[in-house]
Amino acid sequence: MDYLGRLRLGVNIDHVATVRNARGGNVPDPVRAAKLAEEFGADGVTAHLREDRRHMVDEDIEALVDALTVPLNFEMAATDEMQKIALRHKPHAVCIVPERREERTTEGGLEVAREENKLAHFIAPLADAGCRVSIFIAADPRQIEAAARIGAAVVELHTGAYCDAHAEGRFDERDAELARLRDMSSFAHSLGLEVHAGHGLTYDTVQPVAAFPEVMELNIGHFLIGEAIFVGLGSAMQKMRKLMDEART
Ligand code: PXP
Repeated sequence: MDYLGRLRLGVNIDHVATVRNARGGNVPDPVRAAKLAEEFGADGVTAHLREDRRHMVDEDIEALVDALTVPLNFEMAATDEMQKIALRHKPHAVCIVPERREERTTEGGLEVAREENKLAHFIAPLADAGCRVSIFIAADPRQIEAAARIGAAVVELHTGAYCDAHAEGRFDERDAELARLRDMSSFAHSLGLEVHAGHGLTYDTVQPVAAFPEVMELNIGHFLIGEAIFVGLGSAMQKMRKLMDEART
């Protein structure tokens, strides 16, 4: 199958706020990081406003909405509070993610199949307000079918298990996860869903996922922000972009 289009890079800037919050002041400023990402060719900026505000805070989202010229992908849990915030700002995209207070990061995908009715009602006003609704899920046919049934425009497939297996040298598992991601990208596309992917991607793991023809967007945060400490955000993004483009040719 031919590529469906140019692969977009969404840069997640949450962890700029993590560093800022470690000291409680104003620096480093996530909006400055977002503008820099934009300058270096980010196709979008992603920010996750968690219930506990551990990294991004409400004012960051407001400032991003005002400052960005590229699309904002607003990650949020399916709560009334977040729905109100999203409806106030009407970002280009909202990505619905599971959230547990005790987790270090978004550890798994959303359970859509068991919450179908509730989620269908939850996302309807967001879609009506013009937001592209994306659902962050595991590469699992049940979840993909449920995402299609509730009327999501996009599914973002969780690449964490693939990246963890690679990092820990469990290569058989890594390859099995990758095969699952490939098959499920194609399955989601066959149901009319736009396919995104992300979580844990690095220079070492990005290319096989970037090579899936149905994947239209990768959202990458922690690794790029970490690399930025050593080489600057622009250089880190340029290297990631180059790897993505190479994988696509
Ligand atoms: N996509 C989604 C839906 C996420 O929740 C996250 C993590 O916040 C990412 C992508 C980016 O993951 P990472 O920071 O590991 O690159």
